Amino acid sequence: MREGSSVSALARAARIGSVTPPRLVGTLRGVPLDLSIVRPGSPTSPLSEAWASAPDTTDPAFCAWLSDLSAAAAGGQLALAFPPVRAPEVSEPGRWNVDGDVRFQAEFPLSWDTLDPRSPNFALKQFSKRLYLERASTWLDTLPPGAQALDLGGGIGRFACEWLDRGLAVTLADPNPRALELALGHLARRGGRFELWNLAAESLRELPRDTFHLVSALEVLCYLSEPQDGLREAARVLRPGGLLLCSVESGVGSLDPAIAHSAEAIATAAALTEHAIPGDTWVRYFTADTLSEAISRAGLEVLAVHGTHYLTDGPLHRLVDFERLADPAYADALLAFDRLLESTSGFGGAARALLAIARKPDPHGA
Ligand SMILES: C[S@@+](CC[C@H](N)C(=O)[O-])C[C@H]1O[C@@H](n2cnc3c(N)ncnc32)[C@H](O)[C@@H]1O
Repeated sequence: MREGSSVSALARAARIGSVTPPRLVGTLRGVPLDLSIVRPGSPTSPLSEAWASAPDTTDPAFCAWLSDLSAAAAGGQLALAFPPVRAPEVSEPGRWNVDGDVRFQAEFPLSWDTLDPRSPNFALKQFSKRLYLERASTWLDTLPPGAQALDLGGGIGRFACEWLDRGLAVTLADPNPRALELALGHLARRGGRFELWNLAAESLRELPRDTFHLVSALEVLCYLSEPQDGLREAARVLRPGGLLLCSVESGVGSLDPAIAHSAEAIATAAALTEHAIPGDTWVRYFTADTLSEAISRAGLEVLAVHGTHYLTDGPLHRLVDFERLADPAYADALLAFDRLLESTSGFGGAARALLAIARKPDPHGA
């Protein structure tokens, strides 16, 4: 396991609260923790040592323990620091989004944890994931078993969990450590090969170049102060022939989905280039053309750009019966409708989100 991996991150677990779950007893720098599950017979080993010699994240007992750590963090009993254990530098205006997420999570923890089936946003976020995956399936199916995936701006792990389910080895990077704490639990409950890094997409210098078969950045790049910086880093860490899967907002995202909008209003919104509420929100809007240009400028070959989210979260949001989103037949029909709208002349430009699939050129490839 390489230096600074997710395991050594937990070596920096800090701020243990007064209520300690049973598994978190032992000693780490005078702080109580239980290492016995990690290293039977050495319950007082420093956590960093235990982490280095631990069974990897494919070990169910180790994952159960990681899941407990995540739950303790979510319950406010401890805070976890993830590698490289210093706060990533995120400049304004992009910083506003990260700070806003932290505030939102503190205020509405269940709404924010959209991978919890009890979350009011669970079905919507799962459906949104399908909208992306269906369009990218031809390319994703080419990934070899055990391929390495980096999920940039992976948040609480919506796509990282998907990559684990597909047997990929996952590295999740996000500048928000509170998101990483939740992601740890979601990934650990699935098991598989994973690491978590507290990194911003603009600077991934701890991750080696030419490494990943897949870099995913869903609903991320448009929230960066300068999306091109994230694309440059994604291109650097992709291995030759590797795939980039990314999605961004179009100007249609500026419209309130709860209200019906005229064709003129949708067209006007689609032409917007950015949205800023100082201290709160920053979005750089894209069109299919500007997204393709940005990806090409990073040295990647664009394979496809799709419009998506015409219905859920999009201009036709009000048509959706959200009570039925969990019904597979209804979700299938909605998905087919979304794809139909993409290819419908005159409506294709009304996509709320744009999904791009690109490849890093391989000078030695076929
Ligand atoms: C809308 S969420 C999407 C999360 C996840 N990709 C998904 O689709 O479920 C946006 C994510 O981007 C992350 N983010 C914001 N600024 C970032 C930056 N500069 N670098 C990397 N990630 C960033 C946020 O912390 C958040 O997790």
